[in-house]
Amino acid sequence: MALLEMPQKEKTKEKKTAFTDISELPNVGPATAEKLKEIGFSTIEALATATVAELEAAGIGEKRASELIEMARSSIEIAWVTAKELAALKSSVKHLTTSSRALDNLLGGGIETQAITEFFGEFGSGKSQICHQLAVNVQLPLDRGGLEGAALYIDTENTFRIERIEQMARHLNLDFERVADNIIYAEAYNSDHQVLLLEKADRIIKEHNVKLVIIDSLTSHFRSEYIGREMLAERQQKLNKHMHRLLRLARAFNLAAVVTNQVMARPDEFFSLNAVSPVGGHIVGHTSHMRIFIRKTAGKNVRIVRLVSSPHLPEGEVLVKITENGIEDVEEAEIRSR
Ligand code: GTP
Ligand code: MG
Repeated sequence: MALLEMPQKEKTKEKKTAFTDISELPNVGPATAEKLKEIGFSTIEALATATVAELEAAGIGEKRASELIEMARSSIEIAWVTAKELAALKSSVKHLTTSSRALDNLLGGGIETQAITEFFGEFGSGKSQICHQLAVNVQLPLDRGGLEGAALYIDTENTFRIERIEQMARHLNLDFERVADNIIYAEAYNSDHQVLLLEKADRIIKEHNVKLVIIDSLTSHFRSEYIGREMLAERQQKLNKHMHRLLRLARAFNLAAVVTNQVMARPDEFFSLNAVSPVGGHIVGHTSHMRIFIRKTAGKNVRIVRLVSSPHLPEGEVLVKITENGIEDVEEAEIRSR
């Protein structure tokens, strides 16, 4: 006999309505939908990551803004989670192969989704080559280390080369036409344009099943436009916001975000972290989850790739080479003869 009459557990959990498109939200007319789109929230996923202040800036009242965000959040179920649920969420993190087994191992299986990976290094170190490789690899099936999705490529220095994509695709036995079709490319003309491209990216990401967003380079426009000490704070603030936007897209769409950052090596110091000065400064460093330093070597094709900081992986470095085929492992024999 039960001493205490336990109330029957509420079986009928409140059924939440899941919306898949902004236009389905109750009381969102075309004008509000348009306003949301203008400020960069054209999908439920993006809206779920918005802040009330951001929506207020578009003339949406505070109460209404929090209602909209709440509806979007419950639609895609990002809310408070238990530690167990968190573990499940983390287990949805996927890894994208770099084409180098050694580098993939260093990264715990490859480039992670739901995070930002920053490659930094001198000119010619291979940052853009890695971006090209990843734009191809993301299209591979899961069992070949891909994410079965498309790539969004924001190019700030006009260094994207379709011929290079062709070489890499052929090496992987992929149909070049299809690969090219799944790289959605935009050249950013200045830092404002770059920021805008990313703010408008959510719809494209959803429509094309984008699983990798590349910004090559994250910092070049900012560096050339914000010159001098007095502009430093403003530059950092803008970069910070841009990075946060990227991180939110990465989380909302479970995609990998890869950015590059050119650094100047100081010839007077042998390699140490102090020997490089990242253009974006500390803010970029803190927001990105993985920071990877690439360094040239005496061997023309060989690069040293060092994992400098990660929230959960040990530091370490490996060798890779850049060849006709793209990024490749350096064979044992080649390492020994070095
Ligand atoms: P910045 O953008 O100037 O900062 O440089 P980056 O780090 O982006 O360098 P990038 O990725 O453009 O690397 C250029 C280097 O990659 C070249 O100097 C070559 O060493 C190598 N590379 C590029 N294409 C090929 C190729 O088809 N074959 C081989 N073997 N190497 C290549
Ligand atoms: Mg480059």
